[in-house]
Amino acid sequence: MRTDTGQVFHLEDYKPTDFLIPETHLDFRLHPERTIVKSTLKIERREGVALDTPLILDGDELKLESICIDGVALGDNTYVVTPDRLEIRGLPEAETFTLEITTEINPTANRQLTGLYRSSNVYCTQCEAEGFRRITYYLDRPDLLSVYTVRVEAETSAAPLLLSNGNPGEKGTLDDGRHFAIWHDPHPKPAYLFALVAGDLGVITDTFTTASGRPVNLGIYVEHGKESRALYAMDALKRSMAWDEEKFGREYDLDVFNIVAVSDFNMGAMENKGLNVFNDKYVLAEPDTATDVDYAGIEAVIAHEYFHNWTGNRITCRDWFQLCLKEGLTVYRDHEFSADMRSRAVKRIAEVKGLKAHQFPEDAGPLAHPVRPRQFREINNFYTSTVYEKGSEVVRMIRTILGAETFRKGMDLYFERHDGDAATIEDFIKVFEDASGEDLSQFALWYDQAGTPNLAITYDYDQATKTFEIEIEQSLKPTPGQPSKKPMHIPIQFGLLGTKGREIRPRATKGGLVKDDVIHLRKRKERFTFSGITERPVPSLLRGFSAPVTMTSELTRSDLAFLARNDRDEVTRWQALTQLLNSKLTSNSKRVRGGKPATIESSSIRLLGELAFNNALDEAFRALCLNVPSESDIARELGANIDPEAILGSRDALILAVAEAHGEKFEQLYNELEHHGAFNPDAAGAGRRSLRNVLLDYLSVADGNPKRASKQFKQANNMTDRAAALNVLVQRFGTSTATNDALQAFEARYGNDALVMDKWFVVQAMQPGESALGKVNELMKHQLFSLDNPNRTRSLIGAFSSGNQTGFNRADGKGYQFFAETILTIDKKNAQLAARLLTAMRSWRSFEPERREHAREALASIASVAGLSTDVRDIVERTLA
Ligand code: ARG
Ligand code: ZN
Repeated sequence: MRTDTGQVFHLEDYKPTDFLIPETHLDFRLHPERTIVKSTLKIERREGVALDTPLILDGDELKLESICIDGVALGDNTYVVTPDRLEIRGLPEAETFTLEITTEINPTANRQLTGLYRSSNVYCTQCEAEGFRRITYYLDRPDLLSVYTVRVEAETSAAPLLLSNGNPGEKGTLDDGRHFAIWHDPHPKPAYLFALVAGDLGVITDTFTTASGRPVNLGIYVEHGKESRALYAMDALKRSMAWDEEKFGREYDLDVFNIVAVSDFNMGAMENKGLNVFNDKYVLAEPDTATDVDYAGIEAVIAHEYFHNWTGNRITCRDWFQLCLKEGLTVYRDHEFSADMRSRAVKRIAEVKGLKAHQFPEDAGPLAHPVRPRQFREINNFYTSTVYEKGSEVVRMIRTILGAETFRKGMDLYFERHDGDAATIEDFIKVFEDASGEDLSQFALWYDQAGTPNLAITYDYDQATKTFEIEIEQSLKPTPGQPSKKPMHIPIQFGLLGTKGREIRPRATKGGLVKDDVIHLRKRKERFTFSGITERPVPSLLRGFSAPVTMTSELTRSDLAFLARNDRDEVTRWQALTQLLNSKLTSNSKRVRGGKPATIESSSIRLLGELAFNNALDEAFRALCLNVPSESDIARELGANIDPEAILGSRDALILAVAEAHGEKFEQLYNELEHHGAFNPDAAGAGRRSLRNVLLDYLSVADGNPKRASKQFKQANNMTDRAAALNVLVQRFGTSTATNDALQAFEARYGNDALVMDKWFVVQAMQPGESALGKVNELMKHQLFSLDNPNRTRSLIGAFSSGNQTGFNRADGKGYQFFAETILTIDKKNAQLAARLLTAMRSWRSFEPERREHAREALASIASVAGLSTDVRDIVERTLA
């Protein structure tokens, strides 16, 4: 583990390397505890670099065995070696020379899951961001591109499969029951894209022929016996390959494309060139084991990693400050892919929900940072929803501003101009400026200014002159390191609605820039005047959620209800409904906290009913409407002085009122939606199930007993319906026999299936109220629980801390105390995982004073420990700052 040195890295300190490594030859002799890595590097001194300039290579927990230059062992006084650095002085005067380094590493002892490690006896690697230096001493930085040839040697019986990047070459058997394989990747790449996998795995294969006729062999490697669960992932892969050709003109560029699923993985997946390594959660799915959400996740992550082949691999990042160059853009691409594969509006609403649930709180709290940060202590802490999801929103805004066609031209130019480069955000923006002739310098502030802008909007209609005026004022609160901000260019897609929802087209516009259906807000405060408006319109702003902002507007409750009923953009309909419900849910939370009962408006109940029963709407959309704002949504709306118990009370009161009002029709619809045919994970089937399962929750609340959920649990023929029923049982009837029976039945049936059992841990970690902590403690002693496996740890500790509002944020602070102790334990095994989990406390300052003080104490107890990892030290100090 790297412990903190206090070192901070700055964007403006970027300097190119003094040396290049045009060729990298790696020879791995795999052994569980003593793997020998021999690295042979062709080194080239850059022109103009002084001859006495030392070569300084990165390392991390490495043991150096030997070092030679041009075949001659180096004398002791010509190099300095530490576990994290190798500095070589007295280099040959020749411009190029060969450096040979042998290191020994222990994959079994590697519990950080970065570098070369073992997962269920499979050797695998994770090198992004700085894991390659845990394999051998190297210039481990993204702007150092090299052509790799890799020889892997292992015991044949333990590792019949030997994989690395690029195309397969020679292979053969050796004495002593060992064998080898050679892989060559012709595309120069940075070390973070290196991968190696060796082990005994099952495989499914397929082929894909690219538009220009290149045949590609596809392989997905999984645990033996799980092959059939990889078929959906394979299907998603082939669809991704075709889509990238069609929508971006990008073809695949090697003879093989392999994916390996492993069960111990810190993140979702990794785009290593030609050899993606995946958390098996994003590969394995069957109707009996995976929910619709799992299927959608697999489709998205398979696409994401595949799309990185161009946005990330062919064009990589100059330095890690530019991470959003590949991540934001690739998320944008996978979002578009999923939108094309499913319902665009429903997909967009899911994105908006995710952005608001994860990125907005990040932007509003102590961990706020720009999409392109300017400094970091630990880069792994910047794989955030700001870099990924807000980074994607920024790309989407470029398209909204330039239009789809010009955007595509800019993308084409990006690929043409920067193929083979390690590029920057400036390069990216420049291609769109060149393609469009527009100046995007103000827009570029989106990459530099942290925080979520708020738009304060006022309207004025003048009947006499038939003009409608919209005045918008943007504001952006200070964030760490950024006390004052400049106004940004914010694209606001809009429409004006007349009676019955008819779209009104203005005759002309004055004031700020309006192009087609987009208002371009560029000043701090700007006025847009529309003429020829014959009736007072209801404005529909931010259609499609065209910018990641919040809005405070003068719209009345009846305007919002009107939009929810009539707008042609479903995203706006959903947003208007959400705003309407939120205002009630927050005021009720305050009432409940003050000991008063919640009040519910019959108009909202009617509106929800209308949307739920409207057969003209997508079932998935109707389900999204019925899924009223979550406890954390309400907390975010409140922003301060949060009391999770009061929020839960407010939310449950609404659900009960809606359930009681619509009980009969809900029941009828619930019965109608029952599906008897075979399971299909497509959008239509998923939509039907999501609507039926939200109805199950309402009906169970109205029934006041677990019978219906229990019945659905027993009769379900797929995991979506089974898990939904189990969730209702635990959330609504936690202590009932029916719930215990279901939990036991689930465990008996899936006890051997890790991914499914993760769901069993999650559902219990989320049980509301003070009893949750006892449950979590009990589950930590369960024989299937282990802090060594990231998925399992996240399913219990992560779900509890980031998903269980009342259980985690107990008034007595015991939830925080337990969490702090657990984080310290995890930090010793897996620093990245510990740091990631710890971000669950980033909103601690928005709680009511008692909880806030307990949270501060818990955070301080972590900060006071000596020898924390850099990862946790960085998060805890920024959170407390
Ligand atoms: N590039 C990967 C992806 O987004 C994420 C890998 C991040 N890993 C890490 N340890 N920081 O697909
Ligand atoms: Zn990515």
